[in-house]
Amino acid sequence: MPESKLQNGRTKSIRVWCDGCYDMVHFGHANSLRQAKALGDYLIVGVHTDEEITKHKGPPVFNQEERYKMVRGIKWVDEVVEGAPYVTTLETLDKYDCDFCCHGDDITMTADGVDTYHLVKAAGRYREVQRTAGVSTTDLVGRMLLLTRNHFRQGEREYEVEKEHSSTMGQDSLARSPWTGCSQFLPTTQKIIQFSDGKPPKPTDKVVYVAGAFDLFHVGHLDFLEKAKQQGDYLIVGLHTDPVVNRYKGSNYPIMNLHERVLSVLACKYVSEVVIGAPYTVTKDLMEHFNIDMVVHGCTPVMNDVDGRDPFAYPKQVKKFITVDSGSDMTTEKIVDRIIRNRLEFEARNFKKEKKELELIKFLEKDKVNGDLINVGN
Ligand code: CTP
Ligand code: C5P
Repeated sequence: MPESKLQNGRTKSIRVWCDGCYDMVHFGHANSLRQAKALGDYLIVGVHTDEEITKHKGPPVFNQEERYKMVRGIKWVDEVVEGAPYVTTLETLDKYDCDFCCHGDDITMTADGVDTYHLVKAAGRYREVQRTAGVSTTDLVGRMLLLTRNHFRQGEREYEVEKEHSSTMGQDSLARSPWTGCSQFLPTTQKIIQFSDGKPPKPTDKVVYVAGAFDLFHVGHLDFLEKAKQQGDYLIVGLHTDPVVNRYKGSNYPIMNLHERVLSVLACKYVSEVVIGAPYTVTKDLMEHFNIDMVVHGCTPVMNDVDGRDPFAYPKQVKKFITVDSGSDMTTEKIVDRIIRNRLEFEARNFKKEKKELELIKFLEKDKVNGDLINVGN
């Protein structure tokens, strides 16, 4: 990397290593990678194989090819190392010339209860970033399994996530781990600013617009956005509100509320800007407001608006509409299906993960009390 591009006036480039499962990648994962990248100049992410994950915590929802692709799609990631070892070794850091390894402030253990970062911690080559509270794979799976809708309910309970499902995860609702257990995500403008590029389009840029739900941001969305971006220079994604998505998807969709979907889409490297709560119909006003040159949609079916009209009628009329084939048949519904089919396995996996975390917290607390007593004694 040229020295002029280095952060904070550094003269030597700092290479940061992160690793993990990155299953059902969400904006919590993206936020940890954003923070890790800010600690250096170049970010390498090691992603574990399906075999390793199955051995240590149970089978992942997404296969390794899907998980590698999703991590590559995150805008702070410079390089992905496929099949990284579960326990991070100094040899791995040295092989990729990384200064240190970075992880969220939760604890990751092997099947035998060993801290996967003990080697890099002992060598002083470990840094911690803050885990994003209120979003976890466990919580998202809970929303799918229980068909809860509280995550997008309007009004005073708009951001509330149903807590009752803790009992179906096989444990006392009060005994939740602060890491895997579900709390609630509180969206702030600060977070949006951190995720956004903050760059307006240049006057010469060809502006492309796409709109949709982008619920449980997945490989199909990623492939689609890559193709859409190829149609121009600046890609704007319009996100429909929760009630609009619910009108055309029904049931408990969207699984992720509007705020969560905004961050997931903003973390994608092809996206320049997001419209938070875009109208379902792409109107002349909207096209003029954002100087849109082309509206793009994938090959998935489009439902008419409440007035019975085609939402893309205007861009079609002015010949500013095309469809692109993402080449992926992944859908949000397919993900939910996969989870429901493997319901018992996921419940058992999540229960085991939280139980391990709770035991560790108890142990650390006991350790702290003992330490305090020793200090008092001194
Ligand atoms: N991470 C985070 N915030 C979250 C979830 C994950 O910062 N809400 C971070 C983890 O701390 C780790 C990285 O993302 O540094 C990769 O985590 P991964 O191994 O994929 O999984 P989990 O921690 O098991 O994620 P989850 O709880 O969502 O299953
Ligand atoms: O279904 P949703 O509204 O989230 O889709 C957003 C956009 O992504 C749509 O244009 C849709 O056609 C496209 N898509 C795709 N391939 C997939 C899934 C979605 O092109 N597998």
